[in-house]
Amino acid sequence: MNHSPASRNSQENTPPPRILTLQIDGQDLSGRADETILEIARQNKIHIPTLCRLDGLSGHGGCRLCLVEISGQNRPVPACLTYPQEGMVISTASQRLQDYRRKILELLFSERNHVCAVCVSNGHCELQELAVELGLSHVRYEYLHPRLEVDGSHARFIRDPNRCVLCLRCVRVCAEVEGAHTWDVMGRGISSRVITDLNQAWGSSQSCTACGKCVQVCPTGALSEKGTSVAEMIKHRHFLPQLLAMRTNRRE
Ligand code: FES
Repeated sequence: MNHSPASRNSQENTPPPRILTLQIDGQDLSGRADETILEIARQNKIHIPTLCRLDGLSGHGGCRLCLVEISGQNRPVPACLTYPQEGMVISTASQRLQDYRRKILELLFSERNHVCAVCVSNGHCELQELAVELGLSHVRYEYLHPRLEVDGSHARFIRDPNRCVLCLRCVRVCAEVEGAHTWDVMGRGISSRVITDLNQAWGSSQSCTACGKCVQVCPTGALSEKGTSVAEMIKHRHFLPQLLAMRTNRRE
């Protein structure tokens, strides 16, 4: 941490963030201009579904489950990446938004192999929880069922790309918290794959520290620990609030 007089002076000279008034789902609220709509909603106990978002990691905006409507704008926007403006009127749970969210989930379920009954994360999976929350009882799209190779080369962990939802939490936690930059993304669109190093087997990675943070932030069974049972797949994310607190302090 930089305690130099120059640093202290620059912090003291930084003006405090503006406080804005806005309305979310009919509630008159106030929030800081440097907080996202999602953060302000959560502070006021308004629930917006999310999948790629994880407190403590940078925003990615990939899943689009957090879409909200802003009065006067045609297109919904992701609450996790959108900052408020004075007088904004926001709706988080309209019929249209709930339909979009269910469609997004259906597309995720149909794109790879998310068969909950035989998944290591059954009962501890955020995709499964979202499906229950949004009342997804069936998938109307054709299942693509690609056959993606499972990587069991690591001594402790397994990667099953068939269960991946491309939330990129693993990529972000490895870069932002661990600083190892082991994970990356290859390909585009439906061919996108999360890879280790330059698409090598995980077990031969030179950069992986085997810290296991990527496994802990994975919302599904795409990354798991060898030898764990379904009941042991509970995720431990104690390291993330510390990072969030550091980021918040830096903003203040
Ligand atoms: S949580 Fe906002 S786009 Fe995924």
